[in-house]
Amino acid sequence: MNKIGGLKLNGKVFLAPMADYTNVAFRVLAREYGAALCYTELISAKALLMKSKKTARMLAVSENEKPVFLQLFGNTPSDFGKAVLLVEKKFAGNFAGYDLNCGCSVPKALKGKYGCLLMNEPQIVGQILTEMKSASEKPVTLKMRLGLKEETFLDVARVAESAGVDAITLHPRFGEQGYSGEAQWEKIKELKKAVGVPVIGNGDIKTPNDAARMMKETKCDFVMVGRASIGNAFLFKQVKCALAGEKIPERTEKETSKEAKRYFELAKEFNLGVNDIRPYFIGLAKGFSGAAIMRNKFAMSKSIEEIEKVLIEHFP
Ligand SMILES: Cc1cc2nc3c(=O)[nH]c(=O)nc-3n(C[C@H](O)[C@H](O)[C@H](O)COP(=O)(O)O)c2cc1C
Repeated sequence: MNKIGGLKLNGKVFLAPMADYTNVAFRVLAREYGAALCYTELISAKALLMKSKKTARMLAVSENEKPVFLQLFGNTPSDFGKAVLLVEKKFAGNFAGYDLNCGCSVPKALKGKYGCLLMNEPQIVGQILTEMKSASEKPVTLKMRLGLKEETFLDVARVAESAGVDAITLHPRFGEQGYSGEAQWEKIKELKKAVGVPVIGNGDIKTPNDAARMMKETKCDFVMVGRASIGNAFLFKQVKCALAGEKIPERTEKETSKEAKRYFELAKEFNLGVNDIRPYFIGLAKGFSGAAIMRNKFAMSKSIEEIEKVLIEHFP
C-alpha cells in the first residue's frame, strides 16, 4: 500500500525538493508525468512567521499538483509548531503534509545552524517533529543525510520515530560531501531495517532502471528523484513504468519539445518570472545536437519573451 501516515498515494516516485527549481510549474509538470508526491523547496519556519511576501509567494500551490508537502527549515522547535499552525489556518488545504529539512549543507545553513547541522542534534530534531506533529493531523516527514561529518542518521531516525514521524527520506551522503562521491545506497537498506515507518530512498537516481535497482537493493518504500528530473519530467513517466515492470517509453525529441512547451505554459499560468524558469530550461538543453548552443541562449535570456523565442527556434 502506497501510504504515508493517513495519506494514500498513487505511485512510488516523488519529486525531490530543490531550491530555485521545484516551483509550482515544475511540480505540476512532475505530477502530470507521474510523480506521486512533490515538495516545495525549503522554506524558513521563522520567515513564515514574519509573513514575508517572498515566503507567501513560495506557498502558492495549484489544485493540479496536490498532494504537495511543505518543507520547512530552521532550528527553534517552537517556530515549527507555530509555522504549521499558521499555514493550516491561512492556507488550509494547500498542503497534504509537512517535511523537516535536515539535509541542506550549504555554508549558509551550517552558519545559521539549520539543515544538515541538525544531524548533530537528534534531540532538537525530536522536539521540532513533536511540535510539527502536535500542530496538525497531517503526515510529517523528515529528510536527512547520513550526518554532517559522522554517521548519525540512525540516532536521528530513532528519535524521529519516537516523535511520531510518518516517513523518512535518506540522501545517503554526508553534509560535508555536498554532492561529491556516490550516494551510499546500502545505508538506505540499513535505515529500512532500523525503522518501522516508510523509507524514501534518494540520491543518484539518473535513469528509470536506477530507480528500480534502488528499490530492489534497499527495499525502500518510495524513491525520490532530484537533479536528473531537471528539464526532464518525462523521467517520472519512465520510472513509473520501470517500477511497474512495464516497457520504458523512450524520451524522444518530440516528447522533450512537448514537455518544454507545457512547462512554459504552466510558468505563464502561474506568473513565474524569467529567473524562476531559466534553470529548468538550462537543464532541458542536454543531450541534443546543438544542445550547448541552446543552453547558452537560455542562460542569456533576460525575459520570458526571450525564453519563448529560443523555445520556438529549437522546437518549432
Ligand atoms: C539545486 C538543488 C537544490 C536543492 N534544494 C533542496 C531543498 O530545498 N531541500 C532539500 O531537502 N533538499 C534539496 N536538495 C537536495 C535534493 O532534494 C536531493 O536530496 C539531492 O539532490 C539528491 O538527489 P538526486 O541525486 O536525485 O539529485 C537540492 C538539490 C539541488 C541539486
